[in-house]
Amino acid sequence: MTQIFAHRGYSAAFAENTMSAFVAAEKSGADGLELDVQLTKDGEVVVIHDEKVDRTTSGKGYVKNLTFNEVRKLNANKKGSKKEPIPSLIEVLEWMQTNQLICNIELKNGIFPYEGMEEKVIHLIRKYNLSDRIIISSFNHYSIVLSYRMAPEIETAPLFNEQIYMPWVYAQSIRAKGIHPKLASITDKIIKDAIENGVAVRPYTVNKDTDMHRLFKINCTSIITDDPVKAIKIKKEYETRP
Ligand code: G3P
Ligand code: CA
Repeated sequence: MTQIFAHRGYSAAFAENTMSAFVAAEKSGADGLELDVQLTKDGEVVVIHDEKVDRTTSGKGYVKNLTFNEVRKLNANKKGSKKEPIPSLIEVLEWMQTNQLICNIELKNGIFPYEGMEEKVIHLIRKYNLSDRIIISSFNHYSIVLSYRMAPEIETAPLFNEQIYMPWVYAQSIRAKGIHPKLASITDKIIKDAIENGVAVRPYTVNKDTDMHRLFKINCTSIITDDPVKAIKIKKEYETRP
């Protein structure tokens, strides 16, 4: 049955990419999380979507120009009442020791190449013994290939927005076990063909009821959604069917 991945945690109800959003996703019963990583000036892997801290935090500027200590002082729960720090990847991987979630780490290295990011992320995944519970994804497919070469035991998945022809062939050519397409770029036929050819499909970002129904009906591998609570509720309708 289709797995539910909470996009940036349970971001429909909590500040995106915060520990609260991740803990809430786990409590909701989601199978996994999706989160984004950037590198600080002093080389710490931190969990934040944008290259700049401006949109989601109390601060200003590029993550790459701030030290980890500076980043940690910011409030990532800008709209909420309770202050929340930007998590480090270490913090998330430590917390993953207490649960069975799968985690899709999206390397945000499409705009700034962040030299050494793959190595740092892989080092941490191995240190915390999580190779079989992590999927590395990126829009930077050179980084996907580099990650695979450095750690063939960790699953990879290219992200894409466009209608790639036979994406499972492309995925296999770069030794990726899955693809993470934008929902609008993928048809039922492509999803089914990819799965039949052994390639997992996890479309993003699936928030509408109609899209969830569509993907559960064809038994898509996983969906990446902001609202795992809604997704789980809808999925139950399919689990009880004979
Ligand atoms: O990983 C799926 C999705 O998160 C990719 O787009 O911009 O939400 O990181 P974005
Ligand atoms: Ca992402």
